[in-house]
Amino acid sequence: MLKNRNLVDPMDFTEEELDEVFSLAESIIDHPEAYVHKCEGKILATLFFEPSTRTRLSFESAMLRLGGRVLGFSEADSSSAAKGESLADTIRTVSQYSDIIAMRHPREGSATLATQHASVPFINAGDGGHHHPTQTLTDLLTIRRIKHRFDHLNIGLCGDLKFGRTTHSLTKAMARYANVHFTFISPEELRVPEYIRYNLSQKDVPYQEVERLESVIGNLDVLYMTRVQKERFFNEEDYVRLKDSYILDREKLRHAKDDLTVLHPLPRVNEIAVEVDDDPRACYFEQVRYGVFARMALIMKLLGV
Ligand code: CP
Repeated sequence: MLKNRNLVDPMDFTEEELDEVFSLAESIIDHPEAYVHKCEGKILATLFFEPSTRTRLSFESAMLRLGGRVLGFSEADSSSAAKGESLADTIRTVSQYSDIIAMRHPREGSATLATQHASVPFINAGDGGHHHPTQTLTDLLTIRRIKHRFDHLNIGLCGDLKFGRTTHSLTKAMARYANVHFTFISPEELRVPEYIRYNLSQKDVPYQEVERLESVIGNLDVLYMTRVQKERFFNEEDYVRLKDSYILDREKLRHAKDDLTVLHPLPRVNEIAVEVDDDPRACYFEQVRYGVFARMALIMKLLGV
């Protein structure tokens, strides 16, 4: 029996496979009418044990736009996990009701565990502070559409780089392209995890770590802002002290390149002032839009339709 194809880690797809996904996403953008029946008769299950607006709804929008149907839950308390059911049993059960599963779960490693029990393709929609590979597909598609390349870029990642799983996944994915330089901007307590720095060093990928956004903003091609992840802090006091470490505003942007691309996986709290939204360099709502097309292409690839 053929094994299901899953997406758990941003490196699960080769560069060639990523190119296929992005070319398909771009074809859907250009000719959406050609794809409205592609998933007729198929069901996507969205199992969200943690809150979400974009990831869950963009998956559901993606499947509906492909002519498929969706079922699922948006909080653990409305599933039998609240009665003590194991994740393995939940996944075995939902595999009987659906053709493909997207799951978000607060535990690191839960996505890998789920693939061991799923009998249909499985997608990691965020596992704790670990990875968020479909956000990375969204981020890469946005960079491809705006910059037309993945190489020769200075990428700044700013904010909570310790708990921000989107930054972990994006760093891992972008590190395989030529002449990419990473600038990590965070307070000492929210530094990018040691294993990510180690992996970059092993591959001779250049990076620097700084605390002040103002000191580097003028050198960046892409600035990826992130929220301080309140839900992963152990105490409120630390969160309150660190939550407004960075606020991108018009004044800071005055020192940036004219063709800087500002991204944010969203939701934002205070880290990008609303006044920035009208700046042509602010691309985070365009990024939201590309999230649907990236997920449509991913669903089609994993279902083989
Ligand atoms: N970017 C992202 O994961 O957003 P949600 O938490 O709203 O899904």
